[in-house]
Amino acid sequence: NVPIITVDGPSGAGKGTLSASLARTYGWHFLDSGAIYRVLAVAALHHGIELSDQAGLSPLASGLDVTFQSDAEKIRIVLEGEDVTDDIRNEVVGNAASKVAAIPLVREALLRRQRSFAESPGLVADGRDMGTVVFPNAMAKIYLTASPESRAERRYKELKAKGHDVKISRLLEDIKVRDARDAGRVTAPLRPAEDAYELDSTGLSIAQVFEKAKEFIDN
Ligand code: CDP
Repeated sequence: NVPIITVDGPSGAGKGTLSASLARTYGWHFLDSGAIYRVLAVAALHHGIELSDQAGLSPLASGLDVTFQSDAEKIRIVLEGEDVTDDIRNEVVGNAASKVAAIPLVREALLRRQRSFAESPGLVADGRDMGTVVFPNAMAKIYLTASPESRAERRYKELKAKGHDVKISRLLEDIKVRDARDAGRVTAPLRPAEDAYELDSTGLSIAQVFEKAKEFIDN
């Protein structure tokens, strides 16, 4: 049985940063489950499948031709032979991902693929339902939150740094819409696992969040 750490929580709380540094620290594999939903959304756009077309999306999800290739400093995400690493990181794709993720058949179709990441020596899994649905027996579960305002601000800085022209008020709106959709869906609604350590990152530095998480895991 491979040891697993799950990091769940809403959009923009800093899960990606925390999960990646935990994976690096322990030398474990890393599952960015949100990236799978993002890639699926891009695949749907490529194939002209509507984001509400359940009958079309479910086979697309089970047969999704995606690979995560880690080279020295970065994980490259390849969809049907095409590098989509950067293409999946915009708000349009994020919103589309949150729509396909609300479809129960899609979530079901992606379960086995996500579980296949649990390989020796261990896995850090980042998402919404890692501790509740995908890896309920994980050894340590973290639920990372932050106020909507501080999450919008984090997104704003990230996107600005990449040269995107965005408004913070718009991002805050998006975050609220996405929160409502993630929390309100029928399958795997966003909520902390019963045995999760709830960590609020509002006002904390990346290093402080990491220290708190590591202390929880190691004890
Ligand atoms: O952090 P952000 O919400 O921008 O993106 P993400 O973590 O890459 O996830 C993209 C979308 O996929 C989210 O809005 C969720 O709706 C969905 N998702 C999910 O439903 N379950 C997961 N385990 C991971 C992501």
